[in-house]
Amino acid sequence: MILVTGGTGLVGAHLLAYLVKNAQQIKAIYRTVDRLEAVKNVFSYYFDDPIAAFDQIQWFQADVIDIPSLEVVFPEITHVYHCAALISFDPKDFDTLRKVNIEGTANIVNLCIAHGIKKLCFVSSVAAIGENEDVTIPITEETHWNPELDNSVYAISKYGSEMEVWRGSQEGLDIVIVNPAIILGAGFWRSGSGSLFRKVAKGLKYYTDGILSYVDVQDVVSVMIQLMKSDIKNERFVLVAENWTLKKFTSKMATALKVKAPEKEASSFLLGFAWRMDWLRQFFTGKQRKLTKQTAQSIQSKSFFDSSKIQTTLNFKFKPLEETIERVSKRYKD
Ligand SMILES: NC(=O)c1ccc[n+]([C@@H]2O[C@H](COP(=O)([O-])OP(=O)(O)OC[C@H]3O[C@@H](n4cnc5c(N)ncnc54)[C@H](OP(=O)(O)O)[C@@H]3O)[C@@H](O)[C@H]2O)c1
Repeated sequence: MILVTGGTGLVGAHLLAYLVKNAQQIKAIYRTVDRLEAVKNVFSYYFDDPIAAFDQIQWFQADVIDIPSLEVVFPEITHVYHCAALISFDPKDFDTLRKVNIEGTANIVNLCIAHGIKKLCFVSSVAAIGENEDVTIPITEETHWNPELDNSVYAISKYGSEMEVWRGSQEGLDIVIVNPAIILGAGFWRSGSGSLFRKVAKGLKYYTDGILSYVDVQDVVSVMIQLMKSDIKNERFVLVAENWTLKKFTSKMATALKVKAPEKEASSFLLGFAWRMDWLRQFFTGKQRKLTKQTAQSIQSKSFFDSSKIQTTLNFKFKPLEETIERVSKRYKD
């Protein structure tokens, strides 16, 4: 039997849909009942009868930082997909990020070991991989993490959580790790990449010529399932379909959404001013950061990723980014 954590998030919900289609026996955890509606909505993309499909999953209310709530779920489980995490780039969230992402992953790893789980598939991030000093060299699974860099709080927490999974592998647990870039998928329009679709639809004005990397959520979950079913273990895989400038990405998105593309380039000076103003805004209002120093740096960075390892290992072909943008934009408009 399979356990999915983070089932009420973008990756988890699409993964659950794929697993239900494969007629697998599944348990999933959730924290609040209202978030289950988002899963039903995602299931409506995949099933004629989404409620019947949703009802095939055994849902348990649990938190990754609450061990007793997890203990109840583990009996009968043989395979675990750990997708739950907090995504935030706000330095104010550092303690919570460490708790949920690092300590929460350590809890999952320890329970997997204690319950003799056959295999754990962990969703890490390209943020947990290092960067090359020379940005013309592509980043791969072999690139080393550099703690001296100005890493974001999210990246530090994902690196720390990946370390917990590697520690599990040293203790005899079979693991596979995926390191996706920005994941594009439908159903969650107020967080992650979904909010990018929302911003462009509402008339985003600025672009940068920084390079970002993207992957379709359907490719992410399909690779995860294939890796779980394979004999491959104790390996990590970069999941990137294409590396595009933000200018190209937002303009393709605007075309698909039938709105005006961003027309003004955000200079380094403007972004520097913007993240400082954003810091002041949160300082005086206590509101969540919208643009941190590290986010401003990353949308100007020219680093890019090479995902040939997964393509060769599984003979996998990523969906073209343009096709993904078209499909997700259509869902957004619907
Ligand atoms: N989205 C991306 O672009 C992207 C890119 C690379 C890697 N990733 C990684 O992919 C994974 C899934 O991301 P996502 O995009 O699906 O994120 P998401 O939509 O924000 O979903 C996060 C999931 O984690 C759950 N969660 C958060 N804190 C939890 C806790 N303390 N206990 C139990 N569950 C908790 C959330 O539950 P609630 O519904 O209760 O909040 C939700 O189900 C994460 O590990 C993320 O780091 C994401």
